[in-house]
Amino acid sequence: MKTTLKISLAALLSVAACWSAAQTVSAMRSTEVSAVDKAPEIQNYQGSRPGSQALIQRTFKEQPPLIPHRVEGFDDINNEDNACLDCHIHKEVRGQKVPQLKESHLVKPVNADAPVLDKSRWQCNSCHVPQIDAKPLVENVFKGNAAAK
Ligand code: HEC
Ligand code: HEC
Repeated sequence: MKTTLKISLAALLSVAACWSAAQTVSAMRSTEVSAVDKAPEIQNYQGSRPGSQALIQRTFKEQPPLIPHRVEGFDDINNEDNACLDCHIHKEVRGQKVPQLKESHLVKPVNADAPVLDKSRWQCNSCHVPQIDAKPLVENVFKGNAAAK
């Protein structure tokens, strides 16, 4: 009796093993799970030079606004230089209106005449990001509140 039970259990297990091996696992990147990753397709950022596009509507309160213009040439932020500031610390540059940094990005050191950039905001692109036309990997049902600002 015991032996029959053992045999039928073993048979059941091997059937289960075959069945699971026959299942193909489909990965989101649409290749075999064991295949080597392909390098992602290189896409250009959208937008042209600053000053020629509309602002992108924010989708929730306190969202860091998205960058609507191209960033090539001034996205290299290092210890000394920050090209974003060349424009965004001002209200206007060469007759062109610029969205200016507000109080949230500034501190007023003691004895200073005017507020300066808070160094915790120095790396602009850790919060503000340029855009590419990338399709979502999975369905996204997030509904933003377009009125938020
Ligand atoms: C040559 C001037 C210039 C430079 C340099 C520049 N910007 Fe801009 N930026 C603008 C202008 C002008 C706009 C308004 C939109 C437009 O016309 O493109 C803008 C829009 C934005 C906005 C949208 C603001 C909002 O309220 O929606 C963000 C965020 C931004 N820039 C971030 C950056 C960052 C980060 C950098 C550095 C990587 C940068 N910008 C470099 C001029 C500039
Ligand atoms: C820690 C995240 C963070 C960093 C770093 C940061 N920002 Fe922002 N920024 C925000 C958020 C969030 C807002 C939305 C308004 C707010 O809450 O201050 C904003 C708003 C703005 C605006 C729109 C004007 C306003 O205040 O509504 C501009 C322009 C801007 N940032 C430019 C910059 C630039 C240029 C830098 C780099 C010098 C920078 N930001 C660094 C988070 C950040």
